[in-house]
Amino acid sequence: MTQDFDIVIFGGLGDLSLRKLLPALYRSEVAGHLPESARIFLTARSAEVEELEKAKIHDWLHNQLKDGESAESHWQVFSKRISVVALDVTQADQAWEQLANPLSECPERDRVFYLAMPPSLYGATCEQLSGFGLISDNSRVVLEKPLGYDRESADEINALVAQYFPEDHIFRIDHYLGKETVQNLLALRFANILFEPLWNGKYIDHVQISLSEEVGLEGRTAFYDQAGAMRDMIQNHLLQLLCLVAMEPPHKMQADSIRTEKLKVLQAMRPITGYEVQSHTVRGQYVEGMMKGESVPGYLDELGRDSQTETFVAIKAHIDNWRWSGVPFYFRTGKRLRQRCAEIVIQFKPLSHNVFDNSTGHLSANRLVMRLQPDEGIQLTVMAKELNQFDMRLQQVPLNLNFAETFSNIHSDAYQRLLLNVIQNDLSLFAHRDEADLAWAWVDPIISAWKECGTPVQAYEAGSWGPDASAALLHSDKRAWHNNGGSQRGRKL
Ligand code: BG6
Repeated sequence: MTQDFDIVIFGGLGDLSLRKLLPALYRSEVAGHLPESARIFLTARSAEVEELEKAKIHDWLHNQLKDGESAESHWQVFSKRISVVALDVTQADQAWEQLANPLSECPERDRVFYLAMPPSLYGATCEQLSGFGLISDNSRVVLEKPLGYDRESADEINALVAQYFPEDHIFRIDHYLGKETVQNLLALRFANILFEPLWNGKYIDHVQISLSEEVGLEGRTAFYDQAGAMRDMIQNHLLQLLCLVAMEPPHKMQADSIRTEKLKVLQAMRPITGYEVQSHTVRGQYVEGMMKGESVPGYLDELGRDSQTETFVAIKAHIDNWRWSGVPFYFRTGKRLRQRCAEIVIQFKPLSHNVFDNSTGHLSANRLVMRLQPDEGIQLTVMAKELNQFDMRLQQVPLNLNFAETFSNIHSDAYQRLLLNVIQNDLSLFAHRDEADLAWAWVDPIISAWKECGTPVQAYEAGSWGPDASAALLHSDKRAWHNNGGSQRGRKL
């Protein structure tokens, strides 16, 4: 149970709110995490009668919840918390009183303002919040990605919000950091003696971070064609995951210590500039192909016009510090790929000396795979003796921790966790302004170099694993993507 709070979701009847935020709050209700007094205000530019809107929210909830979850069980209590407020954030008019009056009745409560709207409206919203005296000492603001289009625009947005909220009241959300396995990555690294001594370039050959999606544009044409995979996934989700894999142990599991270590990783990332983009990056765009036995259109068909926006990126990156010297980090993300899968692969080096003779079989190097989705879990492959064999024969076997099976009744929800963190005022899983800035500082030159060098997008069929050049990026280093075989579809880790 958390302390008393009010949450105001700007863009409260929008896609993000209906698909992610309200289901997450409802799950918190079911789990008993919401105090009796907590209130939820949903603002929208135009709203129908409250009862009609609530009926819509209920339908959305019903569709979003998973098997075994019920939209009915706690709906009566949950719906009573919700107020729908029609207001235009760009107008300082009377409509704001619908928000100001109830909030001011409880000045002592924590207040969360969630800006689930385009960043172009952040400034106006903060200005009105301030103008109507709604920003109290207990107020926090949550900012959704995309936070800007490049370093400069992100800086402008951050500077604008900073006029109204101090940095330690600003929660920049990256929902990947709320995923169960990401938390477990921290547990694995820092709560076990086994891994930390091996977590460096002496024992690790390379690291792969791969975020593949089956979905295509999902109706977000205007946004996506402006952004592309680099801004949509690499600048935020992927670099945040990288930071947690590569950072030094923080002094404590507290926001300041974690942020300090993440910043050092971003500072140490080797820039990829000019013609290096040709050898270190791959841009792709999907064309028509087959997915799950059905033909799906290409990106340009969905878009209805020509575009050079990338829907796939692969990158070979390096971190220039002692721990990671000589260890390549391979990133890959794309839409309309063969399988939805997010995983971090730590490939250890081979043994320096083999004491077994050739007849025992090939010694494969150990590998640690942290799967974020679809089936969350961790797998470590080790060599072991084959059972029931008189001779010593070795085989690679997996040690599995499959959360989905082990904790079958748990529906982990990244937004639920992160919203509770906001309410509890815990910043440890949120990005600091400087992190966002450094991530842009690494990403911007790559995007500029693509432009300068005229790096084309390479076609890949929907339902494949991306352009051939993506496999070639690793093949040229005598390596391969972990999850890249047609026959591996649907397999466990
Ligand atoms: C969002 C991106 O941040 O993350 C989307 O804007 C992407 O393009 C989504 O589809 C992926 O999230 P998840 O949790 O479904 O992997």
